[in-house]
Amino acid sequence: MRVLVTGSQGYIGSILTTRLREAECDVVGLDTGWFNDCLFQPSQDGFVLRKQDMRDVTLEDLAGFDAILHLAALSNDPLGNLDPELTLRLNHEGTLRLAKFAKQAGVRRFIVSSSCSIYGKAGDALIDETAQLNPVTPYGMSKALIDRDVSQLADDSFTPVFLRHATAYGASPRLRLDLVLNDLVASAFLTGKILMLSDGTPWRPLVHIEDISQAFIAALKAPLEAVHNEAFNIGSTSENYRISELADIIRQTIPNATIEYAPGAGPDLRCYRVDFSKAELKLPGFEPQWTVTRGVEQLLAAYQARPLTADDMNGHSYRRLARLQQLRVQGLIDEDLRWTEPVTAEAHQDSPSGELMI
Ligand SMILES: NC(=O)c1ccc[n+]([C@@H]2O[C@H](COP(=O)([O-])OP(=O)(O)OC[C@H]3O[C@@H](n4cnc5c(N)ncnc54)[C@H](O)[C@@H]3O)[C@@H](O)[C@H]2O)c1
Repeated sequence: MRVLVTGSQGYIGSILTTRLREAECDVVGLDTGWFNDCLFQPSQDGFVLRKQDMRDVTLEDLAGFDAILHLAALSNDPLGNLDPELTLRLNHEGTLRLAKFAKQAGVRRFIVSSSCSIYGKAGDALIDETAQLNPVTPYGMSKALIDRDVSQLADDSFTPVFLRHATAYGASPRLRLDLVLNDLVASAFLTGKILMLSDGTPWRPLVHIEDISQAFIAALKAPLEAVHNEAFNIGSTSENYRISELADIIRQTIPNATIEYAPGAGPDLRCYRVDFSKAELKLPGFEPQWTVTRGVEQLLAAYQARPLTADDMNGHSYRRLARLQQLRVQGLIDEDLRWTEPVTAEAHQDSPSGELMI
């Protein structure tokens, strides 16, 4: 099976591409490369990478793929807030354009990396895929618009699938410290303090990036009729936590750590508690394996092995907003987040097609 993975050089893409190759898929990555060099652990890359902005993809670029796994995006709330209008343009319009080309090019499956953040302000009740969408941030809104509009393209020749992931965690070659669990464990490891940025009350479901990767592979291999134009929440119902509970779990693994609240830490509008039984029952092959407790142990081991430093914590490599702001200040990307020098310059030295074997 020949698959194109957009956002292949990101936090999730760096694990997903490895798992896809283990599942004997012929993988081509497509990524503009904002985080290419931001490696926390050695990368297991070993596939063809197209250094390209997804907004520039042509019909010809998509010919011959059985499926597209679409991860490229401004991928969290802080990034989405940088320029809300650009977030909608890049995420929503960019995805819709890609999906329309994919359909025209005869790509059969288009699997969207969506997010439970589209539920936004949902309160304490368990909600499933039929719940009203109530996004409260530009990022969440862009994801809700993608789900709404890409689903309109579904027909006998084109099967979109929407994987609404919980908040991700876990070790990756391209680590992120702007995710709640990764960040709290890092702060406990480095300072002995679990620093809470909200009052700890909001509900948040969490999912390991290995389970997210497994969900992509399940959606890729499932019979078309099982997934055709379906949305699946990706996570486990038992893995919904209040943020304060995450702090308690971290303290079980790092007993000397103390819980502290950042000055002004108040309530967070984003609060959702999600039912994941549809994916567990109806997405063949999807069986989440991870718990937050195991994830904390894995993260701690990864932080000890490198080891994680204060410079890592406060620098640009593992926080998406800081990284893009750095690239802008250096004049390497413009207001539209495009490279100021042609993106394929390096690739052209190796291959006139702009493809690199990495
Ligand atoms: N991490 C999470 O908690 C989480 C949860 C739910 C959904 N998601 C979604 O999963 C996807 C992947 O998330 P991630 O955490 O790996 O994000 P990430 O920011 O680590 O990676 C995104 C990758 O996409 C690339 N990219 C961005 N815009 C591009 C463009 N215009 N053209 C080509 N490449 C581009 C970036 O260079 C980056 O390598 C995103 O769509 C995100 O919204 C993530």
